Amino acid sequence: GHGAVPAAMSWSFAGPFGKFDQGQLQRGLKVYKEVCASCHSLDYVAFRNLADPGGPGYSPAQAAAFASEYKVQDGPNDAGDMFERAGRPADYFPAPFPNENAARAANGGAAPPDLSLMAKARSYERPFPRFIFDLFTQFQERGPNYIHALLTGYAEKPANFQLPEGSFYNTYFPGHAIKMPPPLSDGQVTYDDGAPATAEQYSKDVAAFLMWTAEPHLEARKRLGMQVMLFLVVLAGLLYFTKRKIWADAH
Ligand code: HEM
Repeated sequence: GHGAVPAAMSWSFAGPFGKFDQGQLQRGLKVYKEVCASCHSLDYVAFRNLADPGGPGYSPAQAAAFASEYKVQDGPNDAGDMFERAGRPADYFPAPFPNENAARAANGGAAPPDLSLMAKARSYERPFPRFIFDLFTQFQERGPNYIHALLTGYAEKPANFQLPEGSFYNTYFPGHAIKMPPPLSDGQVTYDDGAPATAEQYSKDVAAFLMWTAEPHLEARKRLGMQVMLFLVVLAGLLYFTKRKIWADAH
């Protein structure tokens, strides 16, 4: 069956004027790096993207410094060998496992999915909005709402629930038996901007970060949308007065 319906959180990127909260994206990146990245890849994000407009707001130099903390596989070199080197801005986040079989073997048979597009994927898949109203107001937020709910949704299994070996009970996961161990606990990640070091805050921040990885052009798209609306309002006004002028003598 379906998981429970996630609570609707208030996201900075919601609504027609929504924008990502840069501090939140930076914290979410830290949570991804220190917690999620040991199991989940982020295949579609390059280090240089961390300096893109409408993102976490790092400078190109900061993105390069961030990249250099990683070791990436390169090669073959002239001798035909693969080798490791420090990450560069053009590199993509390295995956934790070399292939899907290795990922499965390390996680009780369930491969941790790539997280790059997860916020979009889950906003389309579930849960279906209960009210027509939800379709218009919360559609794009259903992905991050779900990710936040999932990460904080571990609970004792009901007495009559058959939990398979190696699975964990989660209120929001469809079927409730998930192979991902509860990844977040209070105090696990150190924040340096005064945001609370709680699992609740981590899950919100990483959900927002994953919304950005899935929707990197969200801000530009919303800005263009507003400009288009403004243009249409002005055009409608001009057309109205044009029409009045052209038809001024008509009876
Ligand atoms: C699945 C997020 C940490 C292992 C998932 C899913 C999401 C997610 C969104 C997909 C759930 C669905 O299919 O609807 C995260 C985030 C993490 C994190 C944001 C960090 C805060 C981890 C860690 C591990 C892990 C540390 C390994 C120890 C898995 C596995 C699955 C999974 C094995 C597949 C579960 C199944 O299909 O039963 N995770 N995860 N995750 N995650 Fe994580």
